[in-house]
Amino acid sequence: MEIVICDSYEQMSKAAAAVVAQTLNRKPDAVLGLATGSTPLGLYRELIRMHREEGLDFSYVTTFNLDEYVGLPSDHPQSYHYFMRENLFKHINIPPQNIHIPAGTTDNYRAFCDWYERRIKECGKIDLQVLGIGADGHIAFNEPGSSLGSRTRIKTLAKQTIEDNARFFERPEDVPVYAITMGVGTILEARRIILLANGENKAEAVAAAIEGPVTSMCTASALQLHQDVTFFLDRAAASRLKMIEYYEWIQAKRPGAPPSA
Ligand code: GLP
Repeated sequence: MEIVICDSYEQMSKAAAAVVAQTLNRKPDAVLGLATGSTPLGLYRELIRMHREEGLDFSYVTTFNLDEYVGLPSDHPQSYHYFMRENLFKHINIPPQNIHIPAGTTDNYRAFCDWYERRIKECGKIDLQVLGIGADGHIAFNEPGSSLGSRTRIKTLAKQTIEDNARFFERPEDVPVYAITMGVGTILEARRIILLANGENKAEAVAAAIEGPVTSMCTASALQLHQDVTFFLDRAAASRLKMIEYYEWIQAKRPGAPPSA
């Protein structure tokens, strides 16, 4: 695991965008796994800027989103379909048929989840998966207690997640209780994973994910089993890491890092 500690949210977003751009430059038809939430907004803004100003090309890219609320139609302002369209897809040149987001309104969830898993494989698997993290350590909607081998399925949201997300809805009772989500096992099959986290309210979850035991009680801790994961953190999110000095030392000593004064 690589831990990159950034001085600001902007720096974190730019560092993550550089990894996405590098992936597309090496493999223009890469398959990206994408996340929603407030955390990746800066990353998406930077990708849009790179597309407009530097010609970053998405015309051969395929994407798979992690999750979607059950019951929200794709034009609902709080649906992840709407989020992705407004915050990324409508600003870049990705062909609509290359975009995959779990369907929140299908009438056969079991069949849809199986198809989603199959489709990821048919497209050659995810080259780069972008993740955020919930305050309880969840990735996608894999709440505490989710099997670390889980696949795409319906998940009941934890009370904490519903409370965390209530700010986006008019009334707390409007927050959906179920979501369709890639499983931890699905996520671990991505070739490379980057997880972004900023802010003090993520510090506990980040420390548990990086330095705690591998446990289904913090599904982000399963990333310790993956061979190519980078955490991009701002200082507040990194503040509870016991080994922070070591991570900064590693960062400073990386080949290509500027010599310290
Ligand atoms: C939701 C999403 C996750 C996301 C998390 C954190 O639970 N399903 O993918 O990582 O929220 O959201 P935020 O970035 O807004 O803190």
